[in-house]
Amino acid sequence: MYSIITHLYKVAKAGTLAILQIILRRGLGQKAKKMLLLCLMKDIKNILAEASVGSAITAKGWVRTKRETKNAIFIELNDGSSFNGLQCVFDAHGLSKENAAALSRSNTGAALSVSGTLIDSPASGQAVELKADSVTVIGECPADSYPLQKKAHSLEFLREIAHLRPRTNTIGAAARMRDEMAYAVHSFFHERGFRYIHTPIITASDCEGAGEMFQVTNLDLDALVKSGQPADYAKDFFGKKAYLSVSGQLNVECYALALGKVYTFGPTFRAENSNTTRHLAEFWMIEPEFSFAELPDNMALAEEFIKYLFGWAMERCGEDLAFFDKRVQPGLIAMLEEVKNKKFAHMSYTDAVKELEKKSSSFEFKPYWGCDLQSEHERYLTESVIGGPVIVTDYPKELKAFYMRLNEDGKTVRAMDVLVPRIGEIIGGSEREYRYDVLLENIKAKGLDPEPYWWYLELRKFGSAPHSGFGLGFERLLRYVTGLENIRDVIPFPRAVKQAEF
Ligand code: 4AD
Repeated sequence: MYSIITHLYKVAKAGTLAILQIILRRGLGQKAKKMLLLCLMKDIKNILAEASVGSAITAKGWVRTKRETKNAIFIELNDGSSFNGLQCVFDAHGLSKENAAALSRSNTGAALSVSGTLIDSPASGQAVELKADSVTVIGECPADSYPLQKKAHSLEFLREIAHLRPRTNTIGAAARMRDEMAYAVHSFFHERGFRYIHTPIITASDCEGAGEMFQVTNLDLDALVKSGQPADYAKDFFGKKAYLSVSGQLNVECYALALGKVYTFGPTFRAENSNTTRHLAEFWMIEPEFSFAELPDNMALAEEFIKYLFGWAMERCGEDLAFFDKRVQPGLIAMLEEVKNKKFAHMSYTDAVKELEKKSSSFEFKPYWGCDLQSEHERYLTESVIGGPVIVTDYPKELKAFYMRLNEDGKTVRAMDVLVPRIGEIIGGSEREYRYDVLLENIKAKGLDPEPYWWYLELRKFGSAPHSGFGLGFERLLRYVTGLENIRDVIPFPRAVKQAEF
């Protein structure tokens, strides 16, 4: 009996639930009964989607709102499984002493267990509601000190209570979408035969060569300062200087040149002093890398990837996306739809600069060939010149990292940045320099010491092959699909300049 019930639990849908309820009323062993009760106590998401009217239901969650009228007490219970909560309605006249006492302690934020019968809702806000007959307070929430009251709170304020903010509509929806998008990333690559590689977080080499790394050490810094002596890194934990990685690319390239198609997806760290709505000191990056692939293959993969992710968001995040579209960024869904259906434009850096020069006076930073494209330039290109996503390629070598393949002109590299409306750069990538001598020259020309890159250089000695890849900042993607302006609202616990609380 136990194994049958376990199986039913796994496949339980509305119909099976009704059958299980009938079984429950018959005599059962303790173990089977427990399993069945678990089955009947589904997430609110499942209850709303598939439980049948007339079912006995127990729901657990937190009080979002409590409202009392002469005849009824309404509690909106939310367990985080979906945007919508379950409306639980108590008859104000027939309340037992226990229920009345529990309801008086059921403030906003309190954790409750509510049991009753699912009925068609007579009100317009929801299809079904719980005609509640018993309530237990699992965890109280004192109204005088709970910071999340019924009124709307600003996102700035919510950042100061990052431990509680996932209980709000906006941050809860962002967290569910983050989870869905992470699933979409793995699904996209696995459908295409890419292997997931876990690259290290601690590294001795600077992938971007920009010197924006956080150092990792267990030397006693206070003692060092007191002694006035320089640090001896041979005595440090790793026997040399070590850092938090700015990118998994160099490591994932080793696996691309062995397994063919790979990707890494993990946290990366940048000690850049950019206190903006687009930068974090700790962010997650998705980095595919594939062998025997050149820049056009890379551009095609990036376009397919973005479209897949947007399609996934529209298919799988309905309620949450609808909320963002209504309350945060009107027109969001239409914008995602448009990007998904539009062919991405291609433009060389040189042509991009020509376009920018036509409007030179309207920019804060004057554009010229050789300038780093600023956010205002990127947005102008994608929003005004193209009116949709654009992939800009072949940047001056001085602007880009040492690992990018040098073009025949000796001046530009096979780099690509994917720019999208409202955000600007969302993806950065390139074909990699796979010729040993040219790579060594590039490293030296950038003023970098080739020594820590010895193993990376060796990949070009032993069976080198053209290969390409890119990096998508996961939080930049999430800003796009949620419409949230500040990157700190799409990551649970943001790390930025002077921000490492929680
Ligand atoms: O252009 P970036 O620096 O490229 C790399 O790190 C390469 N190693 C990627 C590769 O080719 N495998 O960064 C890639 C992306 C950017 O396009 C942006 O989306 C995001 O990472 N990004 C940041 N996101 C949040 N905060 C920051 N400080 C970011 N810096 C880059």
